[in-house]
Amino acid sequence: MRVDNLIHYRCPISGDKLELEQSPAIVAGKVIEGVLLSKNIEKKYFIKDGCIDFITPEQEIKGAAFARKYYSVIAKTYDENVHITFELYNENESNIRNRMIDLLELKPNYKVLEVSAGTGKDSEIIASRLNKEGGLWLLDISPDMLSYNMARLENVEIPTEFVVASACSIPFVDNYFDALLCFAGVGHFSDLPMGLKEMARVVKPGGKVVFSEKNVPEWLRDTEYGKICINNNPMFADPVPLKHIPVEARNLCVRWIMGNVHYVFDYTVGVGEPKGNFDLEIPGERGGTFNTRYFGKLEGVTSETKQKAIEAQKLTGKSMHKWLDEIIRKEAEKIIKKVNK
Ligand SMILES: C[S@@+](CC[C@H](N)C(=O)[O-])C[C@H]1O[C@@H](n2cnc3c(N)ncnc32)[C@H](O)[C@@H]1O
Repeated sequence: MRVDNLIHYRCPISGDKLELEQSPAIVAGKVIEGVLLSKNIEKKYFIKDGCIDFITPEQEIKGAAFARKYYSVIAKTYDENVHITFELYNENESNIRNRMIDLLELKPNYKVLEVSAGTGKDSEIIASRLNKEGGLWLLDISPDMLSYNMARLENVEIPTEFVVASACSIPFVDNYFDALLCFAGVGHFSDLPMGLKEMARVVKPGGKVVFSEKNVPEWLRDTEYGKICINNNPMFADPVPLKHIPVEARNLCVRWIMGNVHYVFDYTVGVGEPKGNFDLEIPGERGGTFNTRYFGKLEGVTSETKQKAIEAQKLTGKSMHKWLDEIIRKEAEKIIKKVNK
């Protein structure tokens, strides 16, 4: 961890700022060994070989222990075997990874977070697209997977930082990164809605989020092709997480790539819910605005009254909104005035 990057980290439990405890081992501005302290909750996170470990016993219970154990076994052979994941669908690994990274729309000076970065096959492509003004943060729950990533990126010339943490509580302040990638990670999150929320939180408005996971789409579920994939790994049948997409997502695209059995979501981060121009007057018989139609609803009337109202409204030449608004307001004001006299 670079000392001057400390301000961009936050405690994954409390969200508070972190302090660097005294006497860390610092080489060329980087903390090699040290301790980060979350003062209010008296929690310590250890930095070893330049990598911070943010995993807490609570997260271990919530699923981190399983993922860490599973990937510590896989880590040794991951790079040897990962090409199979692409060849199974007659795809070229480098081509797929580059196409996904294209969606990040990177500029050389961008600060990029890769979540579930693993051994770094995407990390090295991202690094090749950045310059010294930018930076790449590699986050993974498994220190074993990340150790291969560190070795792979050892000689890159851009700033890199390695963080052991869960995607479901990302230890960075809000709106820090320009872009975020997560390939083949979300299917392992212990709390998927929270992980997707966290990924949007740490990216600044205007920045891109791209994530991908295995998934047999609905239209291939009944094919032999789809059934063979699901039989091999039930994760292929997990739902597409559309309902967990954060409200900040704008211009979201989802496509299926890699044999049509891996979805890729990409979206631009916005601020809060989308904002509409909902006071815009809508011409025509009904009239009113999106807001009056939503906020101005009163009560239903009998169907005979409704028919009469439609007949009368047509004769006035006004929109239903204008006619109703005028007569109800007039009548209401008359009653209020009389009672308050
Ligand atoms: C299939 S590997 C993908 C690695 C890499 N993205 C790639 O494309 O080769 C899944 C990775 O997700 C990581 N992972 C699993 N659960 C995680 C979590 N909750 N937070 C962050 N990373 C997680 C694993 O440790 C593993 O490195």
